[in-house]
Amino acid sequence: MRIDIISIFPEYFAPLDVSLIGKARERGTLDVRLHQLRDWTHDIHRTVDDTPYGGGPGMVMKPEPWGEAIDAVLAGEAEGPRLIVPTPSGRPFTQGLALDLAAEPWLLFACGRYEGIDSRVMAEYGSRLRVDEVSIGDYVLAGGEVAVLVMVEAIGRLLPGVLGNAQSVSDDSFAPGTMANLLEGPVFTKPPVWRGREVPPILLSGHHGKIARWRRDEALRRTAANRPELLAGLGPETLDKHDRAV
Ligand code: ADE
Repeated sequence: MRIDIISIFPEYFAPLDVSLIGKARERGTLDVRLHQLRDWTHDIHRTVDDTPYGGGPGMVMKPEPWGEAIDAVLAGEAEGPRLIVPTPSGRPFTQGLALDLAAEPWLLFACGRYEGIDSRVMAEYGSRLRVDEVSIGDYVLAGGEVAVLVMVEAIGRLLPGVLGNAQSVSDDSFAPGTMANLLEGPVFTKPPVWRGREVPPILLSGHHGKIARWRRDEALRRTAANRPELLAGLGPETLDKHDRAV
């Protein structure tokens, strides 16, 4: 997968050299290209923002550098990328969207700062590319960079060969299938007793059916405790008799 990121702070993306994503880049599974938006300005101050039309606080990112930067990324390519614009006003970033984006060959992230990017940029490229404005949560960051780090990590770990164990992707909280709308339950490793605290004996039993049942019960309990609104989305048809008893 190719990922282009346009930002006024490309140095924010140093963590993409590390760990799973860093290894995926070394192997060539992931081709990440960073671009400095200011390279497409033409004034001495390399200006990327201006005051908002209609008044109001803060500054808005000017459309011209964005147009030139995105055109330069698209230049010479037959097929365009999917354009993702992080913004608190966007659609929610979910595991489902991460899976959808992980199936794309090419993503372009446009990191806004200040009050956001002049809306005509999204309209302009919306006629040529698939454009998604995406929010990683109901809070406001100083810019899109950290949101893009979050999304690239969530998407990157889903790419074939990035995680050692493919099973762990299907067991993730929120994974479509048996974990849809459920949070993963608690996990344990050796030693069997630590500071007098025992690992739940069922996990040492070797009984796979009972372990799966226990894990599902714990997932249901944790979801009820931490995210009760998710349980409503489970739907009675997805719950068996034992689930309803939990
Ligand atoms: N930029 C600022 N806040 C954001 C958020 N919550 N999600 C995505 N991009 C953002």
